[in-house]
Amino acid sequence: MTPHSPDQPPAAPLHPASPGQDPNQDREYWNRVAPEKNFTTPLPLELLQNRLAPQARILDYGCGYGRTLTLLEQSGFTQTLGLDFAPAMLQRGHRQHPHLRLAACAPGRVPLADQSVDAVLLLAVLTCIRHDRDQRSLLNELTRVLRPGGLLLVNDFLLAPDQRNQERYARFAKQFGTYGVFAISGGGVMRHHDPAWLDQLFSGLHPLVRKETPFTTMNGNSAQGVTLLLQRPRIPAQDQSP
Ligand SMILES: C[S@@+](CC[C@H](N)C(=O)[O-])C[C@H]1O[C@@H](n2cnc3c(N)ncnc32)[C@H](O)[C@@H]1O
Repeated sequence: MTPHSPDQPPAAPLHPASPGQDPNQDREYWNRVAPEKNFTTPLPLELLQNRLAPQARILDYGCGYGRTLTLLEQSGFTQTLGLDFAPAMLQRGHRQHPHLRLAACAPGRVPLADQSVDAVLLLAVLTCIRHDRDQRSLLNELTRVLRPGGLLLVNDFLLAPDQRNQERYARFAKQFGTYGVFAISGGGVMRHHDPAWLDQLFSGLHPLVRKETPFTTMNGNSAQGVTLLLQRPRIPAQDQSP
C-alpha cells in the first residue's frame, strides 16, 4: 500500500473548476483551518477490531491531522496510511504524530493500486464534498482500491430537522443547487445528507451496519450523524443483459 506520489499533490484537479465549485478553494479552506480545528466524529473501533487482523491494510481517506490514524495505531493496527488533499493538515499530522504514514492526494483521487487495501475509513469527508458527481467519483475510487470483501467505514452528517439548519439549507439551496449544502463562516462549504442520497451512493456495496446518533461538529454544534459499515462484494455483480 504505497502511494504513487507521497509528498506532493498532483497539480491537476479531478474535475475542472465550474461556477460555485472549485476544489482548490475547498483545499484552501482546509489548509487555513488546519492549525485550529479539532475533529470530533466518533471512530467505532469495535466495528473494525471484530473483523480485521492487526496487519490489515487500512486507508484513512481525508485523514486530516491523523486523529483517527493515531486511534487505529493505539488499538494495534500496524499497516495504516492517511491521505488528504490539504498539505497544512498533513504538516500538522507530521508534527504531532511523526511516526504516522501520511501522504497528499489530489481532490477525490486515490493514488493506490486496484484492490490494494483491506479497509477504508471515510470519516466526515463527504460533508466537505458538495456535489453528487464528486462524491460518486470518490466512491468509485475507494471501491477500486478495496479488495473484494474489503470494508468501508463511513461517518457523516444527515439533514437535521431543527430550525437553524432548515433555515440555512433553504437559504443556500439556490446558490449551491443541492438542499443541505451551506456555507459556514471562514469560507467553508459543508453538506448535510439526505439519507436517500446516501442509499443511492452506496448501493454498489453490501450494508453491514447502519447507526444514527447525534454527532458534535468541529464548531461545537450538535448535528444528526450516521455511521455506516459497508462491504465490497466478493463476487462482481453479474451482467443481467441477454
Ligand atoms: C472534517 S475533516 C475530517 C478529518 C478526519 N477524517 C477526522 O475525522 O479526524 C475532513 C478532511 O477531509 C479533507 N478533504 C476534504 N475534501 C477532500 C477531498 N476532495 N479529497 C481529499 N481530502 C479531502 C480535508 O482536508 C480534511 O482534512
